[in-house]
Amino acid sequence: MGEGWGGGERMISRGFSNLMKEMDAILHAAEIITRGGIVAFPTETVYGLGANTFNPIAVARVFEVKKRPHFDPLIVHVASQGDLKKLVSEIPSDAKKVIEQFWPGPLTIVLLKKEEVPEIVTSGLPTVAVRMPRHPMALSLIERVGFPIVGPSANPFGYLSPTTAEHVRDQLGDQIDFILDGGPCEIGVESTIISFSGMKPKLLRPGGVPLEEIESIIGQVEINPRVEDKPLAPGMLPRHYAPRTPILLDWEDKNFDFKRDKKIGLLVFQEPRWSFKFHHIEVLSKKGDFREAAANLFAAIRRLDELNLDLILAETIPEVGLGRAIMDRLRRASAKELPIDEAYRSD
Ligand code: TXA
Ligand code: MG
Repeated sequence: MGEGWGGGERMISRGFSNLMKEMDAILHAAEIITRGGIVAFPTETVYGLGANTFNPIAVARVFEVKKRPHFDPLIVHVASQGDLKKLVSEIPSDAKKVIEQFWPGPLTIVLLKKEEVPEIVTSGLPTVAVRMPRHPMALSLIERVGFPIVGPSANPFGYLSPTTAEHVRDQLGDQIDFILDGGPCEIGVESTIISFSGMKPKLLRPGGVPLEEIESIIGQVEINPRVEDKPLAPGMLPRHYAPRTPILLDWEDKNFDFKRDKKIGLLVFQEPRWSFKFHHIEVLSKKGDFREAAANLFAAIRRLDELNLDLILAETIPEVGLGRAIMDRLRRASAKELPIDEAYRSD
């Protein structure tokens, strides 16, 4: 009996000391951001690279570290409706409805910005993208600093987003001030982005909240808006979220001629259906669950990318629910590189 009790005590104290470590790390991260530094932080979608929204020099460093073009605006992260009011003056009724339903969570909304939001954050656009993440460490961090923080995904521009602290460490570790480790991200694909700045709500990027769920609240949402002279979202660049190894999609019906001497990897949704001896196979969800597949997507592509393969073959999955975001990322990851101005040319 005594032993059981003692064991419980040890467990409680271990949990408590972890919590203290977490709190310490959050306070440390908050202090760095307050002083104008940049910190990677966990969200439920992917890791973000945080800085003070209202400190243009800190924000400029975020662009520099990511090698992100300055025409590509950042998402601002808030912890309350009060924070949102620091960024925008008007919230249309449809936007209010989705906020009510999906915040905190993987939904970003684009609204007309207040003058106080620095131009560098929005790349000179009259709008600002805002989201309230639901990861407890992200929320504590924003609450602690007391102002909204910018948070592009914590990866070099164009590469896959990080879903663990190690992913961030591997690619940006020596260039940033601190990494707040919150374990693997629960959702694994970035937030859904909806713009409310025009006449009708527009989907700018499919993501963690399925489009169907948003439409069930506010009715039909426009999709695939035309890319004007500025990108509405760089996620709209043909090639994005891409590994170094070429990825091929839509090969299944094409009688693809596998070359025996090539190192080919396979990325499948549920189970491999091909007899070819692949160098390595990644299965996104054995039980065929889209949520699990989304959560595993970027880490699985990274593992394949580390094997120096000649090619990765990826299976297509149905574009419903989270399948839309997964296929969007796979398509962009598999697109051929285009010169940047060509990628942005309006049609
Ligand atoms: O899940 C997420 O959204 C993650 C986590 C860290 O919160 N963040 C993220 O940020 O994916 P980033 O910077 O990698 O992608 C932001 C997207 C870009 O496609 C950008 O063009 C778009 O948001 N965006 C930002 N401001 C915009 C605006 N004013 N109008 C249209 N698109 C905007
Ligand atoms: Mg990104």
